[in-house]
Amino acid sequence: MMNKVSKTIVLLPGDGIGPEVIGAAVAVLQDCAAEFGHRFTQEEFPIGGIAIDRTGAPLPAETLAACRKADAVLLGAVGGPRWDALPVGKRPESGLLAIRKELGLYINLRPIQLRKPLREISPLKSERAGHIDFEIVRELAGGIYFGEHGTEGRNGGERAFDVESYTTGEIERIAEYAFARAERRGRQLASVDKANILSTSALWRRTVARLGAAYPEVRLEHFYVDNAAMQIVLAPEQFDVMVTSNMFGDILSDAGAALVGSIGLIPSMSCGAAGPPLFEPIHGSAPQLAGRDAACPIGAILCAAMMLRESFGLEAEAGWIESALDRTLAAGYRTADIAGRDSTIVGCSQFTSHLREEMRQLAGQLEPYGWGV
Ligand code: IPM
Ligand code: MG
Repeated sequence: MMNKVSKTIVLLPGDGIGPEVIGAAVAVLQDCAAEFGHRFTQEEFPIGGIAIDRTGAPLPAETLAACRKADAVLLGAVGGPRWDALPVGKRPESGLLAIRKELGLYINLRPIQLRKPLREISPLKSERAGHIDFEIVRELAGGIYFGEHGTEGRNGGERAFDVESYTTGEIERIAEYAFARAERRGRQLASVDKANILSTSALWRRTVARLGAAYPEVRLEHFYVDNAAMQIVLAPEQFDVMVTSNMFGDILSDAGAALVGSIGLIPSMSCGAAGPPLFEPIHGSAPQLAGRDAACPIGAILCAAMMLRESFGLEAEAGWIESALDRTLAAGYRTADIAGRDSTIVGCSQFTSHLREEMRQLAGQLEPYGWGV
């Protein structure tokens, strides 16, 4: 008997290309529910710029309350030129930071994987690209993002500051997650810091090293962040799981995304001890693409697959979506950001239609034998 689940998913499409890519992910989730007999109840709420326009706040209380009750949250993107003049702290991005903080989402997992049909579009020469498959575990609820920010003085004589701080406990909880993740994968953990300069990093390194003793099977290596940036580009194959602070994780994950073809491809999962997990493609709102049906929906679609696998325990369903995705890419259908030599360039909605057709075909082939075989 297949396991049938009933889940409430809160959708936060947000700004820019957010609504388009979330639309694609929702279609895929509905196909999944229909095929496997699951029930996914979806409720939509505003966040970011659209929430500022409608309610005056980037994270309205109603949105947060709905998220707290959900089984999972699926977020598109926030921000855009319309709100760029607003001061730091009042911008759409504050809504994103607030939801991460309020839901206690201190873990952010970003898989960096070079998919076989996309090998030719990696900016690395194929002998360098090797087998790129690693995970960045980014600390998401602390560090410089959440320290004191300020600007003093005026008229050309200003001084601005942003404070980075980490406690032992904040480092321990993210490092424990990363060690456990590495234990279940390739048993290698790269911890990234700037311990030659920053006190927060020195504490980070000491704490991670101390915890390492409890995971003798995991090979722990420490990298300075500048070297890590270089190693990601020169020899990405060496990485299995990487753990790092909020800001370093933000920067290194964009570099990783570029290596595997496009920032449009990368999903992420954020979770913590209490609140529901939140899934979000890492690409941002891409205002120049918004409303043109040109966005790459793959990051959002892979968020749906990640939700099914990591949060709902639905491995066969996630694998089905990923196989259909690889078949769509192998057939040459691509959004412009991932186009190769012989690709057929399609928009967001057409790409999603081709993918859903591949899902139907795969279901037709696999169903008679039972799923998961
Ligand atoms: C990300 C984004 C956000 C971040 C921005 C939009 C605040 O770049 O999720 O990587 O810096 O965390
Ligand atoms: Mg980022």
